[in-house]
Amino acid sequence: MKDFHYGFIACGNMQSILIRALLSSDFAPNASRIAIFEPNDANIKPFTELGCKRVFDYDDLIERSDIIFIGVKPQILPKVLSSIDADAIGPDKVFVSIVAGVTADFLSHALGDRCAVIRVMPNTPMLLGKGAIAIGSSAKASPEVFRLVFDLFSSCGLCREVDESLLNVATALNGSGPAYFYRLADDMAKFGADKGMDYDTALALAIQTMSGAAEMLRSSGKSPEELCRMVMSPGGTTVAAMNAFSEAGLDDAFSAGMQACLDRAEELAV
Ligand SMILES: NC(=O)c1ccc[n+]([C@@H]2O[C@H](COP(=O)([O-])OP(=O)(O)OC[C@H]3O[C@@H](n4cnc5c(N)ncnc54)[C@H](OP(=O)(O)O)[C@@H]3O)[C@@H](O)[C@H]2O)c1
Repeated sequence: MKDFHYGFIACGNMQSILIRALLSSDFAPNASRIAIFEPNDANIKPFTELGCKRVFDYDDLIERSDIIFIGVKPQILPKVLSSIDADAIGPDKVFVSIVAGVTADFLSHALGDRCAVIRVMPNTPMLLGKGAIAIGSSAKASPEVFRLVFDLFSSCGLCREVDESLLNVATALNGSGPAYFYRLADDMAKFGADKGMDYDTALALAIQTMSGAAEMLRSSGKSPEELCRMVMSPGGTTVAAMNAFSEAGLDDAFSAGMQACLDRAEELAV
């Protein structure tokens, strides 16, 4: 594997996980081959202590790096892009963006149209190595670099290659998805608490139910519908719950929430 140099524009929650994954990967570079632009002293300190190089200029970071990861908030991105000298970026550079909503085409254009851009939609369980990560196909990145990026994200969870046009859909699925389950766990626990169980006990039962159900979905080879049927004996309690969910419009509510997420991702792209 070529001795790549890596650049990170921001090392907040998500990119910190990636830098740690990179440093412990099979192809781990020496920390001195990782350059980071990050204004937040507290966020960058753990990495400068490990030997990563702090830089204060985007062009300097890009010049010294082969693969550049962008992980600023979408609202900050225009300011970052306007500070970069796109004319200086050649076809040898590969950018990897986890920024919600922003398409690879948009980024590639803003960065001078010669470099490759790989767009990725990860999620926060990456912190535990249990992320769900959608990675957009890239025609311009070499197979070697694409594989490296794929392997890096795979070390943080389950990685699937999808068409770049589906990255906003992935945002609504796995990017924002953890929050849907946190909210569901909270609703279930609050219900238990309303009925007299202490909240922590109810939350523990809800969490284990979610993780057990997820494991059944993963390992049983059965569809969600088949597994639902296994729990739903005719005239039983689960059927009563499922009917009430349908009557209350749960499916429509989920669909509306995910559509709002998708719409917002598309707005952020402008
Ligand atoms: N969090 C998620 O669940 C999730 C999931 C999928 C994708 N994403 C995407 O990942 C990206 C990062 O999210 P995050 O949760 O890691 O955010 P974050 O923790 O807020 O990290 C962003 C970092 O960027 C720094 N920063 C601010 N201005 C900067 C600049 N001009 N140049 C370079 N760095 C700058 C921030 O410093 P300060 O703290 O000083 O502002 C912060 O350390 C976002 O685009 C988001 O859409 C997030």
